[in-house]
Amino acid sequence: MQIELVTTRDGSHSLYRPDLDEHYHSAFGAIQESMHIFIKSGFERIPIKQLQIFEVGFGTGLNALLTFLKASELQKKVKYFSIEKYPLAPELTNQLNYPSILQAKSAEIFDGLHRSAWDTDIDFGQFVLHKINSDILISQIPSGNDLVYFDAFSPDKDPLLWSTEIFQKIHNSMNTGGVLVTYSAKGEVRRRLLSCGFHVEKLAGPPGKIHILRAIK
Ligand SMILES: C[S@@+](CC[C@H](N)C(=O)[O-])C[C@H]1O[C@@H](n2cnc3c(N)ncnc32)[C@H](O)[C@@H]1O
Repeated sequence: MQIELVTTRDGSHSLYRPDLDEHYHSAFGAIQESMHIFIKSGFERIPIKQLQIFEVGFGTGLNALLTFLKASELQKKVKYFSIEKYPLAPELTNQLNYPSILQAKSAEIFDGLHRSAWDTDIDFGQFVLHKINSDILISQIPSGNDLVYFDAFSPDKDPLLWSTEIFQKIHNSMNTGGVLVTYSAKGEVRRRLLSCGFHVEKLAGPPGKIHILRAIK
């Protein structure tokens, strides 16, 4: 599969899949977007000290790295599940410039997140990573999630992932009070989340995006 390295407007890298004509992040800034949606609107809103996260699409590992760093800063313990159908080659992930933009220690951490084995718990101390190499459409989702990063390719390009069935599976996997955050604020996404029993809020998006969604169980 052909995947190209691109630079977004905040200077951080992203990836581009020509076969789908789809980027992994916003062209306005990969780090800026992930910080706004997943960390500030998601992770920082969960008041508990010990939480379980489920991510749809491990991809570049950017959300995992930002969560690791924020968890260390806030002294939180995290169990981080992330499902990925198409793991990236090390030749590609080695080129990503997130560690050089973020704090010094992060090169070692980022490397560790990518080199970790799939389908088992890897203990980094206050952060336990469990990467699942599978297709979410046919997989069981781990239960007990307090926070979900729904970071699939866009609803136009990958509509099956944004279906009521997948949102219901995710809803069933979450603890009461759990939060799902995603970058798409499309009406049909909002309506499907509502139909699964979530309370849904529209929040201001990062540069280049008017709204994002936060759904609460
Ligand atoms: C928008 S990218 C975001 C990835 C990641 N969160 C990041 O920041 O790089 C979407 C990710 O979902 C993955 N994906 C696509 N279809 C999938 C499926 N059916 N099951 C699991 N992962 C899938 C893609 O390979 C890609 O890594």
